[in-house]
Amino acid sequence: MTNSSSDDVFTLMTDLGKSAEPEMRKFLLKGVRSEFQDLIMWQTETGGKRLRPALTILFAQAFGASTNAQEVLAAAAGIELIHSYSLILDDIIDRGELRRGQPTVRTKYGDEFAILAGIIYREAVYEAAKATGEFFNEVITLYSETIRKLVEGERLDILFEQNDLRTHEYFLSNRYHTVTLEDYQEMIAGKTASLIAAACKLGAIVGGASSDEQAAAEKFGWSAGIAFQIADDYLDIFAVSDKFGKKVYKDIIEQKLGNFVCVQTIRALDNDEAKQFQEYLQDSSLLDEDRIKNCVPLIEKAKVKENVMKEAEKWAQEAKMALKTLKFKKEENKTVLEKLAEFTVRRAY
Ligand code: IPE
Ligand code: IPE
Ligand code: MG
Ligand code: MG
Ligand code: MG
Repeated sequence: MTNSSSDDVFTLMTDLGKSAEPEMRKFLLKGVRSEFQDLIMWQTETGGKRLRPALTILFAQAFGASTNAQEVLAAAAGIELIHSYSLILDDIIDRGELRRGQPTVRTKYGDEFAILAGIIYREAVYEAAKATGEFFNEVITLYSETIRKLVEGERLDILFEQNDLRTHEYFLSNRYHTVTLEDYQEMIAGKTASLIAAACKLGAIVGGASSDEQAAAEKFGWSAGIAFQIADDYLDIFAVSDKFGKKVYKDIIEQKLGNFVCVQTIRALDNDEAKQFQEYLQDSSLLDEDRIKNCVPLIEKAKVKENVMKEAEKWAQEAKMALKTLKFKKEENKTVLEKLAEFTVRRAY
């Protein structure tokens, strides 16, 4: 594994993560009528990288669990179900149309049914926790705390939006007009890092690790998660590959100030240009392509691309540091985890 290329690590991650799919299916379809099953399974069958269950399995193995142990596969399935649940809801909130190169659940079936599917995903998470046996209490507590953190991150991300489409008084009186680096960090810690951190801690839990080891695994995941979200923001604006699977400039279309590229663009431009950029981002009367056409030259002028990438790399380095003190039973997993930390940044999708 030491000499493996990033492609090999990607394949290893996705294959490992996929090993939790039969469990996901079982928990999702419990008691679901046959005519509702395709709708429920859509989010799962569109695939995805399976980063989070792979992290759970890699940490569990690293501390001595066998990959096929029931509690490991169930725990990994539960974490990917939480991820899927958050994506279904996120696409309703963001009006997202395309994910993994396919229509989102809401686009394929409508918002009403996407909400119902989301409820089934949440219940399936509970089934996954039950299937971890002796670890149930710790696992359900971690799942539940993590979902609360995701909600807090999503709440902030909505309030950072600059659009005129949300007209409710609550939104209008609580929205942010400026987003500081601290605000941004708090938001992505909730919406992304918390789940990746939980995936790692969970692996340590079902792998029988001590609380210090669990904390180190969690720290790795938290830093890798921050790197992952900064890279997501980077790809949203700068993706070149068809593989990306989401709409490029989606965050400009969705008028999100909570994208690191937008936050940094406003910081780097002079006052007038920064004001101009924010006005373009705010203008819901513009066609999507016109808002993009107005915003992109200012992003280029701000020259933030390299710095955004550097910031993501800094967090990937932090993640690798968190592994240094850990003594693994399966030492070769450290190399795989280091490569995954690098992958969170250097990826095309
Ligand atoms: C998408 O996560 C949501 C973010 C946290 C940016 P992934 O990029 O891991 O999504 P899939 O599962 O591979 O599609
Ligand atoms: C990522 O939010 C985190 C969650 C989905 C909870 P985004 O809104 O940035 O995710 P994408 O870009 O739609 O995947
Ligand atoms: Mg979204
Ligand atoms: Mg979102
Ligand atoms: Mg995004």
